[in-house]
Amino acid sequence: MNTASPRNPHQKLLSLLGITTPIIQAPMAGVSTPAMAAAVAKAGGLGSLGVGATDAAGARKMIHETRALTGKPFNINLFCHVPATADAAREGAWLNYLAPEFAKFGATPPASLNEIYKTFVTDDAMYQMLLEEKPPVVSFHFGLPAQEKIDALHAAGIVLLASATSLAEARRIEAAGIDAIVAQGIEAGGHRGVFDTDGYDEGLGTLALVRVLVERTGLPVIAAGGIMDGAGIAAVLALGAQAAQLGTAFVASKESSADAAYRAALAAESTRPTTLTRAISGRAARGFTNRLTELGVAPDAPALPDYPITYDAGKALNAAAKAKGNSDYAAQWAGQAVPLARSLPAGELVVQLTAELKEALERLSGLRTLFG
Ligand SMILES: Cc1cc2nc3c(=O)[nH]c(=O)nc-3n(C[C@H](O)[C@H](O)[C@H](O)COP(=O)(O)O)c2cc1C
Repeated sequence: MNTASPRNPHQKLLSLLGITTPIIQAPMAGVSTPAMAAAVAKAGGLGSLGVGATDAAGARKMIHETRALTGKPFNINLFCHVPATADAAREGAWLNYLAPEFAKFGATPPASLNEIYKTFVTDDAMYQMLLEEKPPVVSFHFGLPAQEKIDALHAAGIVLLASATSLAEARRIEAAGIDAIVAQGIEAGGHRGVFDTDGYDEGLGTLALVRVLVERTGLPVIAAGGIMDGAGIAAVLALGAQAAQLGTAFVASKESSADAAYRAALAAESTRPTTLTRAISGRAARGFTNRLTELGVAPDAPALPDYPITYDAGKALNAAAKAKGNSDYAAQWAGQAVPLARSLPAGELVVQLTAELKEALERLSGLRTLFG
């Protein structure tokens, strides 16, 4: 029997993505690497590369490096936020507020802040590069690019995914003809994919969001947020998701670019809580609490500059602190289920997750005895 037959509804997305296990390693700008994506691909999952904080040349290099390691499909992830609006007064006030923190490390804040990377919405070099390189899968976070770009990427044979944090965003994704929705719950590590940062964010959890999108859209749903093991994957499959996207679970793998301090925070004995903060980058993102997340919620904190202008300040402050051996200002993104993190090579993690998923599915079928 051809188990990848699209006639099996559970296999539809797997066959579209060219994978054999319903596990997607989340794109993680600055953390995921070609080695990670290739290791995941070799183990039957979908590996992803976050190129949201890179330019077209950097992204092309990552695509080439990945292709040199594997012939299997992988995903290239782009940030589609509204371009930043510079505001010298807001930026100056934020830098003044952070100045005493810089001073602790014998440093001064930068004179001004910049939009340190472009949104894909206006990045034509990135768009042309994708049309040339044709990565097998492309995914969008923070919104969608123009319809003509979506159509052209599709016409180039690329499978398209996009993140939604609400039914309204999912409906826009479906109307744009995207192939599958990544349903990102509030539990998720990293940046929330919300389209409109000035709008009301209901903060839906993975369980509610996945179930709503499965029932109220016609697209395959990929669940993301708080999934760390086979039991979590089985749970979202039971809700009707066709695959799970895991980020935090892969951060401590040997293929990740996480530094020693980040890895220590992820270690089993750590009990540091996570928080959703805008203070690091200018957009809501979940990571370990630290001095910068505290400063962001202090009563005297001024209004933040736009994303990613705030990130320019956060990165400068982290660099000054890190130079003196302090990692209390770092962006250490992690989801709510981070106490379940383990440190396994990415490929081994996918193999183990798949085995755990099979066991969990057996256990679930055993639950039928509940009714005698
Ligand atoms: C370190 C880190 C970086 C992330 N960077 C990105 C990114 O570049 N693009 C993206 O779409 N999602 C990014 N995310 C979010 C993931 O796609 C996904 O929603 C999240 O990891 C799922 O929750 P989990 O971390 O609990 O598994 C990132 C997550 C983490 C932990």
